[in-house]
Amino acid sequence: MIISSPNDYRAAAKAKLPPFLFHYIDGGAYAEQTLANNTGDLNQVALRQRVLKDMSALSLNTELFGEQLALPVALAPVGLTGMYARRGEVQAAQAAAECGVPFTLSTVSVCPIEEVVPAINRPMWFQLYVLKDRGFMRNVLERAKAAGVTTLVFTVDMPVPGARYRDMHSGMSGPNAAIKRVAQAMLHPSWALDVGVLGKPHDLGNISHYRGEPTKLEDYIGWLGANFDPSISWQDLEWIREFWDGPMVIKGILDSEDAKDAVRFGADGIVVSNHGGRQLDGVLSTAKVLPAIADAVSGELKILVDSGVRSGLDVVRMLALGADCTLIGRSFVYALAAQGKAGVANLLDLYKKEMQVAMTLCGAKTIADLSRDSLVAPE
Ligand code: FNR
Ligand code: LAC
Repeated sequence: MIISSPNDYRAAAKAKLPPFLFHYIDGGAYAEQTLANNTGDLNQVALRQRVLKDMSALSLNTELFGEQLALPVALAPVGLTGMYARRGEVQAAQAAAECGVPFTLSTVSVCPIEEVVPAINRPMWFQLYVLKDRGFMRNVLERAKAAGVTTLVFTVDMPVPGARYRDMHSGMSGPNAAIKRVAQAMLHPSWALDVGVLGKPHDLGNISHYRGEPTKLEDYIGWLGANFDPSISWQDLEWIREFWDGPMVIKGILDSEDAKDAVRFGADGIVVSNHGGRQLDGVLSTAKVLPAIADAVSGELKILVDSGVRSGLDVVRMLALGADCTLIGRSFVYALAAQGKAGVANLLDLYKKEMQVAMTLCGAKTIADLSRDSLVAPE
């Protein structure tokens, strides 16, 4: 399979992965309307071409929370990344570190903090979910701090898991799920060997480490529903603040009023996100809500955005709409599933090259030059 663009990795991942995993990654909530709008609306964002501005010196570097980023891109937290490639969190984190961008480890990763941090030569970010077991949260924050995690990404848009109807059909959950998964693995032998056999142990590494016994993946979707805490409120953030003195980013903001609350709380950043269309179907795409949120809180904290970014061109669009940095979820996961660490490294290189061309033709020499002025004003 020839890979010439970031999007080529989706088909490559589909061919490699058992369907229960591919659809868990690829799918969204309910009718997947928000999922479709995330990419559809972003594609409609029209850049303003400018020429003859001596673009020989171009810089894509940016600074975020005291860290240098080679590109305004970070890898988003993605649960079960270690099921998409052998010890997948380690491979993705290594690729990100070598390309000079942050990797965010999910609470529900396969590889625990203690496995990923020593394998990379760059500070890691960690994403926290509020579980009903507050002892876990205290434990994992202490471990993150001890391991040298720099930035805490606190995800607030999953008090309950969204209904992902594809999972019931694919074998991720639903009737005869375990049998379906074994049958699918047999039909995907390179995955079965690389991840199924050589990628063990398969469990929620961060949680197993705390409980002292493996938290297995047989009923992962059921586990999310049983352990995530719907009572989460701003008080929980105050509590977490006491345990965390580093930069704290609130992920899952879609409304200007919530963004202002994040400023009042003292957050260092927000991620404008609809969780990649995986939570509440029917909410607006992030490309649509980002400008108003940027108007409300720009300059008060850092604005990160995700949901729908599939290319370097999309990064440029999001920055022009008001973001300081983008996260990428599915885009890196497809590359990881297809080609492991080398796939993620190549993907980031493709992003970089696309950004260089787009910025040159927009007359933007630096990341800071990208603004709403880089867009064609709506009619
Ligand atoms: C996610 N996302 C996510 N977010 C989070 O805070 N913690 C997590 O464990 C996960 N897990 C997860 C699994 C999978 C398979 C996907 C696709 C996504 C959401 C993720 O961080 C990010 O918000 C979205 O992926 C962004 O949308 P795109 O880039 O996938 O369009
Ligand atoms: C998901 C969770 C784990 O989106 O964040 O599947």
